[in-house]
Amino acid sequence: MIILGIESSCDETAAALVQNGTNVLSSIIASQIDTHCKFGGVVPELASRMHAEAIVPVVADAVEKAGIKLADIDGVAATRGPGLIGALLVGFSFAKAFAWARRLPLAGVNHLEAHIYSLLLMQTPPTFPFIALVVSGGHTNIYHVTSPHTFELMGQTRDDAAGEAFDKVSKMMGLGYPGGPIIETLAKGMDPDAIKFPRSLLDKKGFDFSFSGLKSSVARYLHDHKIVNHEDKAQVAASFQAAVIDVLSTKLLNAARFKGCKRIGISGGVSANQTFATKLSQRAAKQGIQIFAPPVSLCGDNAAMIAARGTTMIEQGHTCNLDHDVFSRTH
Ligand code: KG4
Ligand code: ZN
Repeated sequence: MIILGIESSCDETAAALVQNGTNVLSSIIASQIDTHCKFGGVVPELASRMHAEAIVPVVADAVEKAGIKLADIDGVAATRGPGLIGALLVGFSFAKAFAWARRLPLAGVNHLEAHIYSLLLMQTPPTFPFIALVVSGGHTNIYHVTSPHTFELMGQTRDDAAGEAFDKVSKMMGLGYPGGPIIETLAKGMDPDAIKFPRSLLDKKGFDFSFSGLKSSVARYLHDHKIVNHEDKAQVAASFQAAVIDVLSTKLLNAARFKGCKRIGISGGVSANQTFATKLSQRAAKQGIQIFAPPVSLCGDNAAMIAARGTTMIEQGHTCNLDHDVFSRTH
């Protein structure tokens, strides 16, 4: 079964062809970052327009790179939410039209479940059950994943997402967007313990996160210490990053212990952070827990993960019709 996946929830227009749920035949990602970075963040109206321009060439490119014909496609999967409504509408409407015209089943995929599926696209994926973290610019969610269709939400952020905190701290220091990779590069070689930024909710039993206090604390530090030079910014970047990594790792290991799970998978844009993956792996190894992190190409938004999730939905008969709409939030 060959499924065409389409992703347009934020600032990437992506299309992929995936065979039998795991064999990625092609995966094309057209990023809009160069446009949005001029504004310090994603501009929803611009995103929608750029998706509308990109969707047809991106899908055509994915079909060509996969070396297949349109007639070989057995189903379509597109992100239905959560995300920016105008952006989602472009990909989902395209998918509806494509599926209708070719009489194919259509899966309306939950973007967060798809990020978990990026772990199942790894050469050696985690076996069930496992703990999964979806950590991006919009979400910081911990799930207990017990089957390809069962995702128990154990905790989530009460305010900012971890990626959002990276983006905002980068902006505060005048360093640009997206902040994650900029902060990670800047932090290299600096002492992560030099400044003690707060670790919110670490003393609490649950698995929820909060990053807005950390963000405010960094803002106060920058103001009070009049941080302007590169070296001082690098110091702040390393200490801020260490606080985020500490909280994410501690909560994940607590969740694994709570559920008696020996496997943890991390996915979403922030999981591309190599310092995070390394630190988490070091701490997990001491507890006999294995860490799974997809290759960078699958960490951020992509359509291969959408097609992978869509495949299992179509197999189970969980399909959409033309009346189904997109959604911006899950809760
Ligand atoms: O999953 P993603 O591509 O899009 C969303 O669904 O949000 O995640 C984007 C987020 C941004 O906030 C970006 O700053 C963050 O992931 N990010 C990183 C890194 N690379 C991307 N955060 C920390 N370290 C990185 N290396
Ligand atoms: Zn995402």
